Amino acid sequence: MDDRPDRFVHETGRHRVALLETQGITKKFGGLTAVDHVSLKLADAELRCIIGPNGCGKTTLFNLITGHYKPSGGRILFQGRDITGQAVHRISRMGIGRKFQVPGVFDELTVYENIRVPFFSGQRQPMLMFGRMDAAAHDEIMANLAGIDLASKAGEPASNLSHGQRQWLEIGMVLASRPRLMLLDEPTAGMTVAETRKTARLIRRISAQTGISILVIEHDIGFIREIGGHITVMYKGAIFREGSYRQIQEDPAVREIYLGRRR
Ligand SMILES: Nc1ncnc2c1ncn2[C@@H]1O[C@H](COP(=O)(O)OP(=O)(O)OP(=O)(O)O)[C@@H](O)[C@H]1O
Ligand SMILES: [Mg+2]
Repeated sequence: MDDRPDRFVHETGRHRVALLETQGITKKFGGLTAVDHVSLKLADAELRCIIGPNGCGKTTLFNLITGHYKPSGGRILFQGRDITGQAVHRISRMGIGRKFQVPGVFDELTVYENIRVPFFSGQRQPMLMFGRMDAAAHDEIMANLAGIDLASKAGEPASNLSHGQRQWLEIGMVLASRPRLMLLDEPTAGMTVAETRKTARLIRRISAQTGISILVIEHDIGFIREIGGHITVMYKGAIFREGSYRQIQEDPAVREIYLGRRR
C-alpha cells in the first residue's frame, strides 16, 4: 500500500487519489454499534454502491460523513482534510452533497426554479448582477436539466412530476450545488422497474460526464448490476465484502446475508 495519505491502491489494482477516506469510523447508540470500524476509500470520480440488509448501518455511515452524527471513534478525511465531527453546513460547503430518502422538492416552484435555488445559493449570488452571467447560468441550469432528462419539463410546476421524475429532480438539485462527492440514499425507492433502470443509467452518465464521486446506497439488485463499478457490502455495521458485481453476486456468504432477500 502506498504511504501517501491521498493515494491508495484501489480494488482494481490501480493507484487512485482518495477523495473520501473513513478510518475505523464507529458509531454507537447506547449498547448498539450501528457503524463498526468502517474503513473505506473512495477514489476521485468513482461511482460506488453500498449494499447490505436493513439496519446494517448504511444511512448512519452517511450521517457520519455529512456531520449529522458525531462518531464514537475513527476519522473521516475529505480531500486529505480531517472533517471528523465538523458541522453539517461546513462539510456541505466543502463539497459533499446529499440526497435524502425523503424528497425535498418544492412543489409550488417550476422544475427550472427548483434547480435555480441551489444553483444560486451561497457564493454564486453576486454573479446575478451581470446579464452575461445570467445567460451562462441559464445554460448551465438547462444542461443540468438535460442531464436528469427533465429539460422538456423546465417550465412545469414540480407537482406535475411523477415519483421517478421527482427523484431525478432532486439529484439535479444536489448537482446544482456543485459537490465533489454526491451521496445518494436509496434513490430508486418506490420506483417502477423502468424508472429504476433509467435512474441507474442517469447516475452512470452523470458520473462519466461530471467526474463527481458518487456513493449510492441501494437495495435493488437490477440497479446495482446496471450501475457497474465496485460494491461495498455492509453487514452488522461493518464492511463485509468489497468487489465487482460479479464477485459479490457469486459470493455465497453475501447471498446468505443479503442477495437472497430481495425487497
Ligand atoms: N439516531 C439513532 N438512535 C438510535 N439508533 C439508531 C439511530 N439511527 C440509527 N439507529 C440504529 O442503527 C442501526 C443502523 O441503522 P441505519 O439506518 O444506518 O441502517 P440502514 O442500513 O440504513 O437500514 P435501511 O436499509 O433500513 O435503510 C439500526 O439498528 C438503527 O435502528
Ligand atoms: Mg437507510
